[in-house]
Amino acid sequence: MCGIVGFSGKREATPLLVEGLKKLEYRGYDSAGVAVLDNGKIDLTKVKGRLANLEEELKKTQSKGQVGIGHTRWATHGEPSIVNAHPHLNEKKTIAVVHNGIIENYMELRKWLGEKGYKFVSETDTEVVPHLVDYYYEGNLLEAVMKAAKRLRGSYALGVICTEEPDKVVAVRKDSPLIVGLKEDGNFVASDIPAVLSETREVYLLEDNEFVVLTADGVEIISEDGKKIEKEIYHVTWNADAAEKNGYDHFMLKEIFEQPKVTKDTMTSRIMLGEDIKLDKINLTKEQIENIQKVYIVACGTAYHAGLVGKYAIEKLARIPVEVDIASEFRYRNPIINDKTLVIIVSQSGETADTLAALRLAKSRGARVIAVTNVVGSTISREAHDILYTWAGPEIAVASTKAYTTQLIAMYIIALHFAKNMGTLSAEEIEALKKDLLAIPEKETEVLEKKEEMEALAKKIYKEDDMFYLGRGFDQAVAMEGSLKLKEISYIHSEAYAAGELKHGPIALIEKGTVVIALATQEELFEKMVSNIKEVKTRGARVISFAFEGNTDIENTSDEVVYLPKVNPLFAPLVSILPLQLLSYYISIAKGCDVDKPRNLAKSVTVE
Ligand code: M6R
Repeated sequence: MCGIVGFSGKREATPLLVEGLKKLEYRGYDSAGVAVLDNGKIDLTKVKGRLANLEEELKKTQSKGQVGIGHTRWATHGEPSIVNAHPHLNEKKTIAVVHNGIIENYMELRKWLGEKGYKFVSETDTEVVPHLVDYYYEGNLLEAVMKAAKRLRGSYALGVICTEEPDKVVAVRKDSPLIVGLKEDGNFVASDIPAVLSETREVYLLEDNEFVVLTADGVEIISEDGKKIEKEIYHVTWNADAAEKNGYDHFMLKEIFEQPKVTKDTMTSRIMLGEDIKLDKINLTKEQIENIQKVYIVACGTAYHAGLVGKYAIEKLARIPVEVDIASEFRYRNPIINDKTLVIIVSQSGETADTLAALRLAKSRGARVIAVTNVVGSTISREAHDILYTWAGPEIAVASTKAYTTQLIAMYIIALHFAKNMGTLSAEEIEALKKDLLAIPEKETEVLEKKEEMEALAKKIYKEDDMFYLGRGFDQAVAMEGSLKLKEISYIHSEAYAAGELKHGPIALIEKGTVVIALATQEELFEKMVSNIKEVKTRGARVISFAFEGNTDIENTSDEVVYLPKVNPLFAPLVSILPLQLLSYYISIAKGCDVDKPRNLAKSVTVE
């Protein structure tokens, strides 16, 4: 997630911009830059890497200007590099733009602007904006930004400066956060409150499609139809630490609640009704897809669990055999790989040592490799043949939540894409599934309303020593992930099993009061699952079932039932994992554990 800071005032802008950006570091970034208006020109400084590098470079620029914009970039379109870093300029270098979000129709706009003679230097979606503003600029920056914004689809917070109007920063937001900070000697615009807290506690919270004009003397807020908006000043009473977490107590909780947004983001510009699935970094042809004899999905931890869902989805929809492997096993077991093998490597960080080694092995044996990763420019993204980026934004809590759901989306997108190319589903069937998938973010929002229910449930079971997670089909894959979440952050021992496996051994462990989490979302397997629940129930288990609304029969065999909004069972993992994440979170809280930094674990495992 990128960070934006802008300033217009009676003080030097550069140090204020850098200090503001430092307060946004928690959002994650891989490059940074500032643009300051000074003596009729834009002083632009951009670096790859940390803000310390930017501070070094800025010593050379020595801009004294009092109006500017700054940015930390978390790469999505194009690798982390100086050229892709923001701010981006128009060709005449009279307009500079910083952007947070994703511009869905940037390809279309790039083409349109290209035909008008505009030249692009970066791979970013953002670069269309300075050119669009340039195209519409007729002496009024606000009007030009308003006209440009009308052409944009997607999510954006923008900060814009222009040499022709050297006292102003113009900004706008749509589906991406932006606030205004007010002070006597200057005004700020920023992605988040911490960026301005050391300067002011008086802020305006902007709504979608509100435009702002900042000058040293004031702030004007204007609606998209040009009307002035009077806004109440919001006085910030909390500290910067709470602000970084957006008011949530922990990053994990914040990230759980970000899932509807990032699920939507990861589908953005890839899945649209009535259009082909667009995967700009997967270049496999129809013939190459038809020639695949075997798919391996290789990953570790949570990413491996996403792979389990991928196997069910690809085999069900595209009818290609899939094997899911733990990377540390795959790399040493001499797997059977040839040029008809496709290997899908899944890794949030893109740096996990075993996963990277698996990728290298697969490539050396002639396999085609697709990377599903969240980090643009990561080693895994650089070494794979094809990439599907998850757009989860930086994940800070060690326990993966939003990265997992976006990995699931990636799995479904690949499955649908392959199904189309393999001809295993009709165009109508694919369209219907796309519609069901696009409806998921709304259902996720509904499930998150179960927060209190999960908190109450956690208080009843947090003293347990052992728990079991059971499911069949897709539910079994989710059971694995639910169980891992519990282990990681609450240190409660838990096991996940395919429900049908129980009687082959593990049922011996069930005794009076043993907590069993039973997932029962799969229609075709519902009765079988109910039988498995009865098996543990008659042995004294305390069963907490998760089922779709309306499946009330399950109440006869369960101690408690958590109802989930109905979705296509194929996509059930996207909603059923959310309450399990919340349950683990609240159990961890009840036990007084360190939720965001659980013992013995690291966010990125770069050693074997
Ligand atoms: O960065 P990666 O996706 O490659 O990481 C893989 C695992 O280390 C990771 O998913 C780990 O299991 C998380 N702690 C799970 O919450």
